[in-house]
Amino acid sequence: MAALNACSALVTGSNRGLGLEMIKQLLEAHCSKVFAACRDPDGPNSEVLRELAKKNPDVVTLVKLDIADPCSIKESAKKVGSLLGEKGLNLLVNNAAILPQKTMLTATVEDMHNAFNTNVIGPLFVIREYLPYLRAAAKANGKPGMSSDKAAVINISTDSASMSMIPSMEDPFPFFPYSISKAGLNMLTVYTARDLKEDEILCISIHPGWVRTDMGTNEATLNTRESVEGMLHVIGSLTEKESGGFLDYTGKTMPW
Ligand SMILES: NC(=O)c1ccc[n+]([C@@H]2O[C@H](COP(=O)([O-])OP(=O)(O)OC[C@H]3O[C@@H](n4cnc5c(N)ncnc54)[C@H](OP(=O)(O)O)[C@@H]3O)[C@@H](O)[C@H]2O)c1
Repeated sequence: MAALNACSALVTGSNRGLGLEMIKQLLEAHCSKVFAACRDPDGPNSEVLRELAKKNPDVVTLVKLDIADPCSIKESAKKVGSLLGEKGLNLLVNNAAILPQKTMLTATVEDMHNAFNTNVIGPLFVIREYLPYLRAAAKANGKPGMSSDKAAVINISTDSASMSMIPSMEDPFPFFPYSISKAGLNMLTVYTARDLKEDEILCISIHPGWVRTDMGTNEATLNTRESVEGMLHVIGSLTEKESGGFLDYTGKTMPW
């Protein structure tokens, strides 16, 4: 069980994979307001999410959010803002991402645009649009220091964003647009941590491990439960010391 005490949380890309498991475990952790964001809440890929919302109507709210579309990000923030009280939003999880399977020699301009739009630019504008609610949460909490119970941005990153790990990975590496965009996401983490320090809002990048999802494939070593349990445990124990850092789901520091 997670050591997390956040009252309110929003997770992007929550209709399947790690995002969906995170919604389930936030419910188990008795989070009182869970905003499950996905790009098609009424579509066939969001059926499990709709069931969860039906069973927990006072806790789970489905939010339409396509992170590659700035208008959709704005609209979603307006909706969530109207439902949040003065206590604001404690936890923002930038989880949604895409992985175009391309190498340095096969990636097209479109692959690079799509990867950057979804994996870096989307998370940036999600942070910006939800910032007033994170600030409200940090202010309402009133305690000194930083924690995920207060206000935190969690960017789900990957070991393949680690520049020092790339040389040891397979050749030719088939995750070229993904790795480069996720390295950009890591830089976004560092900037966010620095720029939101005064507001006492923390921000980290976290690698979930290699997990059996559509993206991770069936070959992966972890199931979603193990990965998310680990990540929520790490998230629940964060302080200002870790802000701006890159950790994995066990709490180990990742090399940049
Ligand atoms: N699985 C792994 O082994 C692994 C390893 C390292 C890092 N990660 C990271 O973990 C996170 C979750 O990955 P996963 O394995 O759960 O992936 P997944 O099973 O492929 O799920 C990806 C999620 O992102 C959503 N998404 C994609 N583009 C979107 C957009 N424009 N707007 C909103 N949602 C969008 C998808 O929604 P739709 O259903 O609408 O497509 C889906 O809910 C990602 O950030 C990934 O990079 C995963």
